Amino acid sequence: MMPSFLRLPIYAFELSDKSYKYLRLKEERGGIVLDDFGEGEIAAGVIEHGEIKKKDILKALLKELFSKKNIHFTAISLPEEKGFLENIQLTGIKESELRQALELQLEEHVPLPPSEVIFDYILARNEKNHLDVALNAFPRALVEDYLEVFSSAGVSPTFMESELTAATRSIVPQDFASPAMVLDWGKTRISFFIVENRVLRFASTVPIGGEMLDQAIAKNLNVSLEEAQKLKAKKGFLQDKDSLPVFQAIVPVVTAIREEAEKYINFWQTHSENKEAPKKLFLSGGDANLPGLPQYLEQELGLPVVMANPWVNVKFPKYYLPNLEFKDAVRFSISIGMALAAMDKEKTI
Ligand SMILES: Nc1ncnc2c1ncn2[C@@H]1O[C@H](COP(=O)(O)OP(=O)(O)OP(=O)(O)O)[C@@H](O)[C@H]1O
Ligand SMILES: [Mg+2]
Repeated sequence: MMPSFLRLPIYAFELSDKSYKYLRLKEERGGIVLDDFGEGEIAAGVIEHGEIKKKDILKALLKELFSKKNIHFTAISLPEEKGFLENIQLTGIKESELRQALELQLEEHVPLPPSEVIFDYILARNEKNHLDVALNAFPRALVEDYLEVFSSAGVSPTFMESELTAATRSIVPQDFASPAMVLDWGKTRISFFIVENRVLRFASTVPIGGEMLDQAIAKNLNVSLEEAQKLKAKKGFLQDKDSLPVFQAIVPVVTAIREEAEKYINFWQTHSENKEAPKKLFLSGGDANLPGLPQYLEQELGLPVVMANPWVNVKFPKYYLPNLEFKDAVRFSISIGMALAAMDKEKTI
C-alpha cells in the first residue's frame, strides 16, 4: 500500500442547485480523520434540477476554488433526480455476463437511445434462479456537462456516482441489511430513497425545499427570511404554546412530506421482491434538524425514525472528534459517502 503522505488527494464534490460542498477524509495511523471540508453558494439559475444551465459561471467559480485550495482530483456527485433507477430480475445468465445483458435490454428500462445513456449497476441479490440487479443510469449529455465543467476548471474527475448511492454509503450502518428509508431534506428539495442490503433500490426527489419553510414562516408571522430561518431552527415542529405559530405556518409543508413518505413506503411494500416494509427511517440534510420532526414522523408513519449519523461507517481514531458539528455533518452525508469511496481510489492513482 502506498504511504498515505504520498497519496494524491481526491476531494469529494457535492453539487446542489444552490450550493456546492466538498470534503476529504484521510487515513492516519489510528484511523480515518476529516482532512478538509467546505461549502459555498451557487447563484439561482446556474444549475436547475441538477442540470447545468450556465456552464461558464460554474466553471469560473470552481476554477477559483480549485486553484486557491490546490485541488487536482475530484469525485463528483450526480443528481439522482435526473437519473433512472430500475430494479431488474435476470434469469439464465451468469454474473460475469451482467453488463452485456443489461446493455442489450437498456432500452426497455431507460427512455433514451442506448447511445445516449451511461449506466452502472449493483448485483443486489444472487438468488437461486435469478439475479436481482439495481440499474442506475444517467443521460450521457448530463454526465459530459459535469465532466466538461470540472475538467475545464482545472481538475481531473476520478469518478462520478449518484448522490444517493453516496449518501447510502455514509448513512446506512454496515450491519443494517433490512430495508430502510432515507430522507435527505435540503434547501431546495427533498429526496426520499429506499435501500435494502445497503443498496439503493428506489428514489424520488420532490421540489419541497427547506427554504419553503422559511418563506411560509416569514409570510405567516410577518418576519424577515433571516428571522424565519432562526425561528425554524429553534421552534421547528414543536407544538408547545410558544412554538405553535411556527408549527401552524409550516404544518402544510411537513404534512406534504409525510404523505409522500407514506406513498413510497406503501409502494415498496407492495412492489418489491421481498414485500418487506422499511424497518427504519434515517433523516439527513439541513432541514432534518427541524426540532420535533423525528417524533412527528415516527408517530405518523409508525416506524422508528432517527437522525442519520453520516460518520457511522468512518473509523475515527480513539478520542477523535471531527471539526464539524453534528447538525452540519448531516448536511454533508453525500460528500462523506463519496469521500469514503475516494480513499480507496487514492490508493490506486
Ligand atoms: N439547525 C437547523 N434547523 C433547521 N434547519 C436547518 C438547520 N440548519 C440548517 N438548516 C436548513 O438546512 C438547509 C440547508 O441544508 P443542506 O445543506 O442539506 O441543503 P443543500 O444540500 O444546500 O440543498 P439541496 O440539496 O436541497 O439543494 C437550509 O434550508 C437551512 O435553512
Ligand atoms: Mg443537498
